[in-house]
Amino acid sequence: MGSGINAGIISTGKALPVSRLTNKDLEDMVDTNDEWIKSRTGIEERRILTTEETNSYLSARAARIALERAELSPQEIDVLIVATVTPDLILPSTACLIQDIIGAYNASAFDLAAGCTGFLYGLQVAVQFIENNSARNILLVGVDTLSPIVDWQDRNTCVLFGDGAGAVVLSRVGEEQGILSSKMYSDGSKAKLLYVPSGGSSEPARYRTIDERGHYIKMNGPEVFKFAVTVMVDSTLHALELSQRKKEDLDFLIPHQANVRIIKAACKRLDLNSEQVIVNINRYGNMSSASIPVALDEALEENKIQRGDLIAMVSFGAGLTWGAAVMQW
Ligand code: UT7
Repeated sequence: MGSGINAGIISTGKALPVSRLTNKDLEDMVDTNDEWIKSRTGIEERRILTTEETNSYLSARAARIALERAELSPQEIDVLIVATVTPDLILPSTACLIQDIIGAYNASAFDLAAGCTGFLYGLQVAVQFIENNSARNILLVGVDTLSPIVDWQDRNTCVLFGDGAGAVVLSRVGEEQGILSSKMYSDGSKAKLLYVPSGGSSEPARYRTIDERGHYIKMNGPEVFKFAVTVMVDSTLHALELSQRKKEDLDFLIPHQANVRIIKAACKRLDLNSEQVIVNINRYGNMSSASIPVALDEALEENKIQRGDLIAMVSFGAGLTWGAAVMQW
C-alpha cells in the first residue's frame, strides 16, 4: 500500500478438535432440536475440545502445516500474531506459548483480541509490518476455543459455537497480488451485546461470579443479527472501493461463519451466487477468529480458489467489531 512492497498470504493450515458434537447430542443437553438449529443457523455439528486439546495445541498444529506449505522454518518467522478471545491463560499471551511449542524463537509474539473479527484485524496489522519493511515473514493464527466459556445450560448460545484454529503465513508477494485493501471498525457502545461479564480484572472469579454463571458468554442474538447483515455488506463494499474494485469483480466471498441466514442475506445484497460464497458453518458452527482462515484453507484444498481470483473476507463480532479485506490470490 504505497511502499512498493505487496504483502500477501502465501500458505494456510488448520486444526480442528477430533470430537464432534451434533445437534442430536445437544437435544439431550438443552431444550432444543435439530430442525430449529439447522433452519435458524445452518449448523449441523461443531468440533469441541477434548481434555488433551487446548487453544495453543490446535494453533501449533495449524501453524506447522502453514509453515511447511510455505517452505519456511519456524526460525524464519519474524512476527507471530495470535487473534483470539480465548487464550490458554490470562498471561502470558498464547502467542508466546505457541512460539515455544513450534520453536519460532526469532519472532516477536503477541495476542490480539477483536472478537470474531480478530483474524481480519490481525491481517491488517501483519500487512503493515511487511509493507513498511519491518518484517519479512509473519505467522498469523486465527483461533478460538469457545467451548469452555459457553454456557451449556443456555440454548440461546450453546448451539452456535465450535472450536478450531486456522493459520496463515504472510510474506512479500508479486505485483497485483496479495492484500489489496482492508478496513476495520469498532463500536464499544455495543460491548454488552456479546460479552463475558466475569473473569477479567474488573470482576475476577469469586463464589458469586460462579453462582451467577458470569464466566460464560452472554449474547443478545437478535440485535447482533440485525447489525451483522448491514455491516457485512457495507464493509465489503468499502474494502472493494479502497482496492478500486467493484462487487462485480469478486470471484469469492469468505464470510465469518456465524449464521447461514446472515451469510445469505449479505450475499443477496452483494449479488453473489451460492458458488461464490465459501460456507462451512454446517460442519463447524461459529469458530470466531478461526472461521475465516479455516474456510480459506478448505477452499484452497478443494481447489476452488485459483491464482488471480479476487476474494473478499468479511467479519463481525464482539466489541462490537467488524471489517473486510480484499485480496488477489
Ligand atoms: O460471531 C458473532 C456471534 N453472534 C452472532 O452472529 C449471533 C447472531 N444472531 C443469530 O444468529 C440469531 O439471532 C440466533 C441464531 C442466535 C437466534 O435466532 P433468532 O431467529 O434470532 O431467534 P430468537 O433469538 O428471536 O428466538 C426465537 C425463539 C425464541 O422462543 P420464543 O420466545 O419465540 O418462544 C427462543 O427462545 O427461538 C427460541 N430459541 C430456541 N429454540 C430452540 C432460541 N434458541 C433456541 C434453540 N432451540 N437453541
